[in-house]
Amino acid sequence: MKLIKVKNKKELGERAGAIVAEAVKAMPYIVLGLPTGSSPMPVYEDLILRYQKGDIDFSRVSTINLDEYIGLPATHTQSYHYYMDETFFSHVNTDPARTHLPDGAAEDPEAECKKYDELIDKLGGVDLQLLGIGYNGHIGFNEPSDSFSKRTSVVRLTEDTVKANSRFFDDAAGVPEYAISMGIRDIMLARKIILVAGEEKKDIVDIAVNGDITPRVPASALQLHRDATVILIQG
Ligand code: GLP
Repeated sequence: MKLIKVKNKKELGERAGAIVAEAVKAMPYIVLGLPTGSSPMPVYEDLILRYQKGDIDFSRVSTINLDEYIGLPATHTQSYHYYMDETFFSHVNTDPARTHLPDGAAEDPEAECKKYDELIDKLGGVDLQLLGIGYNGHIGFNEPSDSFSKRTSVVRLTEDTVKANSRFFDDAAGVPEYAISMGIRDIMLARKIILVAGEEKKDIVDIAVNGDITPRVPASALQLHRDATVILIQG
């Protein structure tokens, strides 16, 4: 696993944005795996700037997001659907027919997971996967566990994750306890992976990059990937 240390959010956005831009240029029909959270925000900002300058065209790109909260409709301001529209999609020329997130409001979440896996298969898997990381080492919403998750599944969020994510909610009691998340298998099958992390994640990044490969630290699986790069802010 390659570790790149950068000085600040701007540099993180530029480094990751450059890799995404190059990949999109080389492969206009690329499938991008996309994350949410605060860490990837500088990457989206950088990609928007590149789009505004005419350096990148997203019209043929397909996107597949990692996860969504169960129980939140796409219109909820804390849903990942809303985040993606606000943070990225509404600022660039992605084709809405090619942007995908699990439906957190689906009546049957298990059926939604199956549908999402079928979609991943139909798209031929992810070409370039962008990731953030949770304080407990989770990627997507794949929480520490006894085994690595395989495919998209309904996940119960740990207390720590619910607490960490409550900062975005007006009412902490309204933080969903369940989510739908793409599995570690499909993340690992991505041809290229970039994980971005702020300075506050340096301890867990160190454990994920240098520690044991264990489902207790889901991001440690990336040590087994051929082309995984971590971009970490270290001021
Ligand atoms: C959520 C998301 C993860 C993300 C994590 C960290 O739990 N499901 O994909 O990596 O938050 O978020 P942040 O970057 O805001 O710390």
